[in-house]
Amino acid sequence: MRVFQIQDDWGMANLKLADRPQPQPGAGQVLLRMLASSLNFRDLVVPERGYGSFTGKLPLIPLSDGVGEVVAVGPGVTRVAVGDRVCPTFFQGWIAGEPDLSRMTGSLGGPIDGTMAEFMCLSEQGVVKVPAYLSDVEAATLPCAALTAWSALATHGAVKPGEQVLIQGSGGVALFALAFARIAGARVTVISSSDEKIERLRALGADATINYRTTPEWSKPARALTDGRGFDHIVELGGEKTLPQSLRCIRPGGTLSMIGVLSGSSLATPLGLIITRQVRLQGITVGHRDGFEAMLRALEQHRMPVIVDRVFEFPALKEALAYLKSGSQFGKICIRH
Ligand SMILES: NC(=O)c1ccc[n+]([C@@H]2O[C@H](COP(=O)([O-])OP(=O)(O)OC[C@H]3O[C@@H](n4cnc5c(N)ncnc54)[C@H](OP(=O)(O)O)[C@@H]3O)[C@@H](O)[C@H]2O)c1
Repeated sequence: MRVFQIQDDWGMANLKLADRPQPQPGAGQVLLRMLASSLNFRDLVVPERGYGSFTGKLPLIPLSDGVGEVVAVGPGVTRVAVGDRVCPTFFQGWIAGEPDLSRMTGSLGGPIDGTMAEFMCLSEQGVVKVPAYLSDVEAATLPCAALTAWSALATHGAVKPGEQVLIQGSGGVALFALAFARIAGARVTVISSSDEKIERLRALGADATINYRTTPEWSKPARALTDGRGFDHIVELGGEKTLPQSLRCIRPGGTLSMIGVLSGSSLATPLGLIITRQVRLQGITVGHRDGFEAMLRALEQHRMPVIVDRVFEFPALKEALAYLKSGSQFGKICIRH
């Protein structure tokens, strides 16, 4: 079968098309014919071996997110049947409950082989059925970006109607967070680098927006949007440059979901604010299968649209990654298999 793999050494230059034997499902396993994949910021970092405590072995098939059709099942499989359309879960071993190291080490696209293959063979426990209303490329966007936003706002944040939520940027996680915050009935402020993107964020239902390029000290005007009270919840995606400002506009007792470090991963900020405002700093690492299935029920109930920016064909993975790196996208970048 045709795959993309990071071949014999780390580095984007070693990401190449290759052939591998087609896997066969054993007991409790399912074979998926992959239909589509989607890109996350992480997929730019993994080929350089730079993601967290990641210690993958080569060759490695990249990308965590995708959707496939079940084409064969091994003995004892009951969760899905041939013909079902399913997404693999990001953490293959995290079904429910509290995170622990063993549950959080088996992630697709590093260290486990990811979705850029014609076929994938996975445990039946590591897949979820996807709603019929979503196209293949739309469904392929769900395992990482969407579930991360869901875990932040629904699972851990329990955002309520009338609460104030601030979201950073218009990337994959941010757009899902905007949609989930709106479903929950929150008032949503989004900061973004461009007025053009801001117009599109408004069209998607953002109640207020701030351009953080033209207003680099955005925390003051952001706080003013909450009548001075501060945000109940901030979806923190920038890290180094944004966290100090988030701490200045979160309300006392509010929740900061720490998800990304797009602007850097070191911290120089008055930590006292976390204490005096009794801020809840909640790290988020994607989420578990139970959360994924809860999110799918919400998506189906609201027929929530998924914003896809551009679809590339399978052989054009590197062009798709370069496009992601440019940062000019609005919505998810997908691969048709
Ligand atoms: N913890 C987890 O489980 C988890 C899961 C998924 C992703 N992440 C992390 O979350 C971050 C976003 O991931 P993604 O896949 O959504 O990325 P993405 O789709 O590539 O999003 C990039 C967007 O973020 C915005 N951005 C960039 N720098 C920013 C800054 N300094 N302040 C505010 N916004 C900024 C930009 O939007 P504008 O042009 O509109 O400003 C940019 O288009 C990454 O750091 C990623 O590693 C973490």
